[in-house]
Amino acid sequence: MKEVIVKAPATIANFGPGFDVFSLALEEPYDIVKVRLNDKNSINVKIAGMDEGIPTSVENNTAGLAAARFFEEKNPSKGVDVEIRKKLISCAGLGSSGASAVACVYGLNILFGANLGHNEIIEIASLGEIASGGVAHADNVAGCLLGGFVLIKNYHPIDAVKIEVPNVPIVICVIKKAQRTTRKLIPSHISLTEARQQISYCSSLIYAILAGNLKDIGEAVNRDQISEPVRSRFIPGYDDIKKKVLKAGAYGCNVSGGGSSIFAICEEDKTDEIAEIMKNLGSQGGVENNIIITKASNTGVVEINGL
Ligand code: HSE
Repeated sequence: MKEVIVKAPATIANFGPGFDVFSLALEEPYDIVKVRLNDKNSINVKIAGMDEGIPTSVENNTAGLAAARFFEEKNPSKGVDVEIRKKLISCAGLGSSGASAVACVYGLNILFGANLGHNEIIEIASLGEIASGGVAHADNVAGCLLGGFVLIKNYHPIDAVKIEVPNVPIVICVIKKAQRTTRKLIPSHISLTEARQQISYCSSLIYAILAGNLKDIGEAVNRDQISEPVRSRFIPGYDDIKKKVLKAGAYGCNVSGGGSSIFAICEEDKTDEIAEIMKNLGSQGGVENNIIITKASNTGVVEINGL
């Protein structure tokens, strides 16, 4: 086997209240990653598609860094060329960096017959995330790998589980962050009262997903005291967009992952209306945005036959 090609979905990390712990895989958009053996004994990263500003050096690219960690552990005898075909816009909070990293490790696992389990793949891929936000976090990579709603049961060692999701229509206003990461601005402490509230938000979401109730899922992702207050400050007109989207009948609205994209959950027959509101209000804030109407997906990273 000389090459493996995989498809890796976008993810909404945190998925409302679950900072670094929850994520949801999406049907669209997705990236394609090809890993191919080379005789140079080196890791080379190449990017095609939406590649604006993404570094290709091994240490600065999430797939490259994840591949380097895989090589340190498994010490394979050949090098690899990693080709990332990006359909996922980067720096928009849609798990682009995590998708590249986890798709790469998934491909390497097959290519070298390494027999890594899903938690080991997530662990290595999460180290690749350091190249993007400076911190190893597992929510995006776990959601992308497994599909569905994923929660990180434990960080040391990584233990991630997937819960199958019902039909969850999602509208996304895709907004690129002006800055590489806003993560460092999130306070390192919250009060006991806030912690209690946040735990209840997370519990509501898990319960809603298990019950398969779209309205409850939407209402549960609508609340967050950790990421949203910080990330939303960098999104022009965010409060107005959220207010209008909810008034129009969306069940919930929040910041996707590290921002600055905004997602809303609504009934299928409401998606066009919500998309219109997001498009108009989003552009009034002076930021370039485009709208994606998609849905949750129970499929994570999969091997495919060709590019
Ligand atoms: N959990 C991560 C964060 C997701 O909030 O920073 C963004 O990559």
